[in-house]
Amino acid sequence: MNLVEKINKLKKEKNAIILTHCYQNIEIDEVSDFVGDSLYLSKMASTTDADIIIFAGVYFMAQSAKILSPEKRVFLPNMNSGCLMANMIDVEKLREFKAKNPNLPVVCYINSTAEVKAECDICCTSSNAVDIVKSLNTDKVLFAPDTYLGKWVETKLSGVEVITFNGFCPTHLRIRPEDIENARKNHPDALILAHPECHCEVSKLADFVGSTKEIMEFAKKSNNKKFVIATEKGVVDRLNRDSKMYNWGKEFILINENIICPNMKHNTLEDILNTLENEVNEITLDKDTILKAKKSIDKMLLANSLK
Ligand code: 13P
Ligand code: SF4
Repeated sequence: MNLVEKINKLKKEKNAIILTHCYQNIEIDEVSDFVGDSLYLSKMASTTDADIIIFAGVYFMAQSAKILSPEKRVFLPNMNSGCLMANMIDVEKLREFKAKNPNLPVVCYINSTAEVKAECDICCTSSNAVDIVKSLNTDKVLFAPDTYLGKWVETKLSGVEVITFNGFCPTHLRIRPEDIENARKNHPDALILAHPECHCEVSKLADFVGSTKEIMEFAKKSNNKKFVIATEKGVVDRLNRDSKMYNWGKEFILINENIICPNMKHNTLEDILNTLENEVNEITLDKDTILKAKKSIDKMLLANSLK
């Protein structure tokens, strides 16, 4: 039996599912039940009847799955898979941020630890951040940890001031406005699609800004044939694979060859097999944190479903 067959056999025997973020190494899709962005995967984690969830993503994503399904066992294949942005804020820093800006609702990007989520009013992901801030019906909010997503939300909502914590994604910040200008010169027939974690100047210059899944859906539906993608390489790999597989005749180009999130690339098929076989790397959280963090995520899911 090869690796994929072994994993699929164990998945069946243990009633396990594999949720995979679209920045993961593409070969992981072969054993995945669901592949997508943070919001989609959170929804899948909250509705599955599997006993075991293997989260092929980064630590905060596996934690979110545990928060949404505390009765299930959740595993991260490789414990080195952290998120640099999520690690930029802890409870102490969040409390300082709140103390400097008292009496304001706090929106917390899902790229954060369970403890930080537990101290916020509502969560959001990159695909629903605008709607979530709007749903609060307020003219001023605190937003943590991603300053660029927060500032992008502000540009989408007139009359709302978004006060942001100074966190950022080092991978997306490697994309510079010059990269967009070069892409326009080198590929004048291409549309440029960017993730809202990019620098505001980059988002301003792009043709479309959206979460990873929104970028993929936009590219699929568009009549254009060529796209420059300003987000992590995993998205480009999957789009080029699907274009070939389904004869879209479309070409996808990564804006700059360095746009790879090293933390997302730790998980391998070997790690997944090891996790399933030996039940190692389990996510554990105390009940109180789960309860408080779940409130923030549930509020997000509810606001999203009411949209
Ligand atoms: P998505 O919300 O698009 O899945 O983004 C998650 C992420 O970590 C982007 O860097
Ligand atoms: Fe975190 Fe950035 Fe990697 Fe996303 S791309 S997981 S925000 S470090």
